[in-house]
Amino acid sequence: MANSVVIIAGTPGVGKTSLAKVLADIFNAKHIDLSELTISKKLFSYYDEERESYVINENAVVDEVLKLVKSEERIIIDTHYPEILPSSIVDKVIVLRLNPLILEERLRRKNWSWKKIRENVLAEILSVVSINAIEKFGPNKVYEIDATGKSINEIAEIAVKIISGEYGHKQGTSIDWLEKLPLDIILRYERKEA
Ligand SMILES: Nc1ncnc2c1ncn2[C@@H]1O[C@H](COP(=O)(O)OP(=O)(O)OP(=O)(O)O)[C@@H](O)[C@H]1O
Ligand SMILES: [Mg+2]
Repeated sequence: MANSVVIIAGTPGVGKTSLAKVLADIFNAKHIDLSELTISKKLFSYYDEERESYVINENAVVDEVLKLVKSEERIIIDTHYPEILPSSIVDKVIVLRLNPLILEERLRRKNWSWKKIRENVLAEILSVVSINAIEKFGPNKVYEIDATGKSINEIAEIAVKIISGEYGHKQGTSIDWLEKLPLDIILRYERKEA
């Protein structure tokens, strides 16, 4: 893994930062948590009260990442919006997927509002991060790992194989929660009240 940029992507709460830290250790790479970088370097435009999140200044974030890419040989970036980064600098995107019911539990533990929980669980159900990543980076650079029921080390083992090029992948998004979950569970996330 030389001169490479690997992105660990996924809906908030799926375990991106936990995995990225383990991988950065294994590959002796620089870990960049894009949300953390955005806040620590104040690379956001404003705080959106309605959406309960910072609106990032995309150009500023990309400039900062490009600077780091020039100075570091190996980089592991974790983010839920990989599509802001230029495709030319990105070697592989690994999208972590998580069963929506487990994701809901994780987001509840963060004390998030139902509005924010349902918005993110619906994004996971609809494969939003994977679809955006494939659109931006093309199907050959995008891989998915189903993290459900796996320890961080088990997920890291699969990610190491992907990064090292030992692991083939299905093109397109292969994890479809719409197919796997009963309709009444999916519809619960459509409701505005918990
Ligand atoms: N494989 C796993 N098994 C069990 N718990 C996990 C696993 N991976 C992460 N977690 C736990 O889930 C929570 C969210 O993990 P983490 O912060 O890594 O997610 P994230 O995708 O980076 O979230 P965010 O987008 O909000 O930064 C943490 O409490 C973490 O300890
Ligand atoms: Mg994180």
